[in-house]
Amino acid sequence: MRAIVQEAYGSLNVLKLRDVPLPEVKDDEVLVRVRAASVHPDVWHVVSGKPYVLRLMGSGLRRPKVRVPGTDMAGVVESTGANATRFRPGDEVFGETLRAMQWKNGGAFAEYVSVPQDNLSPKPGNVSFEQAATVPTAGLITLMNLPTGPLRNVLVNGAAGGVGGLAVQIAKARGATVTGVEHTSKLDLARELGADHVIDYTKEDFTRLGTRYDLVFDIPGNHSFAACRRALTPDGTYVLIGHDHYGATGHPVLGSVPRMVKLMAQSLFLRQLPKPTRATPPRKESMAVLAELLETGRITPVIDRAFPLAETASALRYLTEGTARGRIVVTL
Ligand SMILES: NC(=O)c1ccc[n+]([C@@H]2O[C@H](COP(=O)([O-])OP(=O)(O)OC[C@H]3O[C@@H](n4cnc5c(N)ncnc54)[C@H](OP(=O)(O)O)[C@@H]3O)[C@@H](O)[C@H]2O)c1
Repeated sequence: MRAIVQEAYGSLNVLKLRDVPLPEVKDDEVLVRVRAASVHPDVWHVVSGKPYVLRLMGSGLRRPKVRVPGTDMAGVVESTGANATRFRPGDEVFGETLRAMQWKNGGAFAEYVSVPQDNLSPKPGNVSFEQAATVPTAGLITLMNLPTGPLRNVLVNGAAGGVGGLAVQIAKARGATVTGVEHTSKLDLARELGADHVIDYTKEDFTRLGTRYDLVFDIPGNHSFAACRRALTPDGTYVLIGHDHYGATGHPVLGSVPRMVKLMAQSLFLRQLPKPTRATPPRKESMAVLAELLETGRITPVIDRAFPLAETASALRYLTEGTARGRIVVTL
């Protein structure tokens, strides 16, 4: 099969289109003929091998253990492993290819990928393969970090991005009034995604406007927690996703890890921070939630541009430019 192969960490030039053997299909896995795969910042991190800490977190010390990048996709079931009884050949599916929340390559930029059946859901008929492919990785991290239960007054910092766009739509689906913080050029997209109010971060600092929210869902993390507390109600919650802008911010070796560890330590005595002991929802359930949100039109991914598989490096280059208005995908 054709696949994008990464033999080393480095610039986007390390990505080559090659012929490789079909992936092995384990008993609980499904072989999927990929139709679209998503391009997002975590793919860039593993291609570059930065921050260096990711190499110690399962990605591979000297070179990537899994040579084919990409972590989420949509496609058609080709065959199933001996115990993978949930799907049949011909089913349209979407899902995440990695077994756990990991910073490593997942093999999605290829004609075929083998995926644990519980990481997949049937693709709703009302969305395209391109749209469905953009949801699993960003959607799982969003669901994992959004507090459960009803949401009231929510601020999403980075509201038009991959994770922020889903956070806006899911918060709206749960009944929240949502304020989206974005760059001037993406305020209209934040509104299109459902934000009731928008703040242009080039003109105003949301931590100094005097409005308080029950939830500050912070993707870029460009303000300290102390500053964000000014925008939180006493019982509000602060969630940091983090974004190191392709190495431009964040620690070169440790990335956002020191900041996350500090927040975890503070969460032991500050109720505005989620406890590190909170349970991660099972993949199968979370994928079903995302499928239902797509099917009912409560999340609708906006696609900026699709690139052919051979142009995966260009797709990632375009991502790092930060000008995309919506998600970027690779199509096959
Ligand atoms: N997307 C995924 O599937 C996924 C999955 C797991 C984890 N993650 C991680 O989650 C993080 C976010 O990913 P993403 O896909 O959401 O990234 P993204 O699409 O680049 O979104 C980030 C958004 O934040 C905006 N932004 C930048 N600086 C800002 C500021 N100072 N104030 C407010 N908004 C600002 C950006 O707009 P401008 O660039 O125009 O300023 C952009 O729209 C990354 O660390 C990524 O590694 C992503």
